[in-house]
Amino acid sequence: MEAPPRSALVNAFLPSQEIDDPDRFVGRRPQVEELTDVLRVSGSVPLIFGPRGLGKSSLAHQMRRIAEGDTTLLDRLGLADRSITGDEAFVSVGVSCSRTTGTTEALLHSIITAIESDLADHLPEPSRSSTERTSSTTIQTPFLKQQWSSKHVDAPPMDGSRGDPEVHLDALCSEIATRSGRRVLVVVDELDLLTDTTGLSSLIKNRSSSYLKFLLVGIADGYHELLADHESIARQLAPTAVPPMSDAELEAIIDRAEYVLRSSGLEVTFHARARSRVIRVARGFPWFVHLLGQSALKRAFDSGRAEVAGSDVSYSIRHLHSERLSERYADSYRHAIGESREREIVLRLAAWSPETTVASPLIEQMANALGIDDARALIRQLHQTGFGAPLREVRQGAFFRFSDEIFRIYARTCPPIYPNVQKRVDAAYELADEGQPRKRGRHSA
Ligand SMILES: Nc1ncnc2c1ncn2[C@@H]1O[C@H](COP(=O)(O)OP(=O)(O)OP(=O)(O)O)[C@@H](O)[C@H]1O
Ligand SMILES: [Mg+2]
Repeated sequence: MEAPPRSALVNAFLPSQEIDDPDRFVGRRPQVEELTDVLRVSGSVPLIFGPRGLGKSSLAHQMRRIAEGDTTLLDRLGLADRSITGDEAFVSVGVSCSRTTGTTEALLHSIITAIESDLADHLPEPSRSSTERTSSTTIQTPFLKQQWSSKHVDAPPMDGSRGDPEVHLDALCSEIATRSGRRVLVVVDELDLLTDTTGLSSLIKNRSSSYLKFLLVGIADGYHELLADHESIARQLAPTAVPPMSDAELEAIIDRAEYVLRSSGLEVTFHARARSRVIRVARGFPWFVHLLGQSALKRAFDSGRAEVAGSDVSYSIRHLHSERLSERYADSYRHAIGESREREIVLRLAAWSPETTVASPLIEQMANALGIDDARALIRQLHQTGFGAPLREVRQGAFFRFSDEIFRIYARTCPPIYPNVQKRVDAAYELADEGQPRKRGRHSA
């Protein structure tokens, strides 16, 4: 059904949503192929990992749909032959960890509650207890506070085995498989938020079966970080990394938005310069394409133009700090800078480094060239919680990384607080480039 034009306009990009609709999901073909195969391998435990904000949860939503027999995405990718249908298909539940989930035991409890609630139709009547009640849970994702309704069921144990929650989980899934003819897929997202994962590997190893599969998702540079005792399930784990998106994948987000607009009768397109500007700033992060795309699109449309120009994107970048959705990055930026223009220069020097892992002495050198003598101390401050710790140490002090790469892009892009800061940063890089043939891949937005 066609959406009304204004609704299509404000939903052409989705910066505040994980992508559940397969028609809005772009790219990630190798990961979809890999994960679809892994879903078929008995005993295997797929694990989606990668840095913050690259689309892990969105990918997990798609895998849930594919596991349940939805072929929309596979058809579009020309992978219809991999569809999981009939008795290969799953029923699924999703659980999102939070800091309050805490331990493996608490997570297990949430999984059981989710199964009893969301898959109640596949359970015998007594376990769909009359004490069923609905409550609202707030789940914090980096981009939005998502409200969703979850049912908590105070059900009596089906077979008196409630005493051991692992056995109860097993009994529930076995019952569901018998009644529905489908296996159960449990998707556990935000695994990185569990404070203590002791016992999780053995839970997953012991309980993965012909009728229960887990799919794990979390922020990590390497999947080992997500599970204590991961050695014990090394052979079952099938990790899939989610890397930054390619330029073609990022561009496909704009193509999709244009398509959504067209389907609602709105012929609004992005000029080539607008496209390349968005993609250059986004540096592989789909969220920035959604955020800048939406804001530039609205600006062009509200000024009565049918084409989004490069200048619309530049305007959106200059006003990034006042965007509601990037408020938390604006706060972190102000917190890190405080009253110090020199700290702002050092932070931006670091943000503009072409390397993900930044050599501290290199930044010190460039800052010194600008007359900043205490660069080392300023870098140290940016590691401290008092300044929000935007940087974190790696390899014993000589190197650091940004704690959040999205914040890093924000820090490169947002308007500086103090005058002439970006000019000084550009000058430092030009000086450094003179001494080195290597380009830093710099772009002014
Ligand atoms: N395949 C995709 N196609 C289009 N947009 C995407 C895709 N993947 C992610 N996005 C967009 O990127 C943003 C972040 O996505 P998502 O929340 O899935 O990332 P994440 O890796 O789970 O984040 P976090 O690490 O914070 O949990 C969202 O705005 C989403 O709309
Ligand atoms: Mg996520």
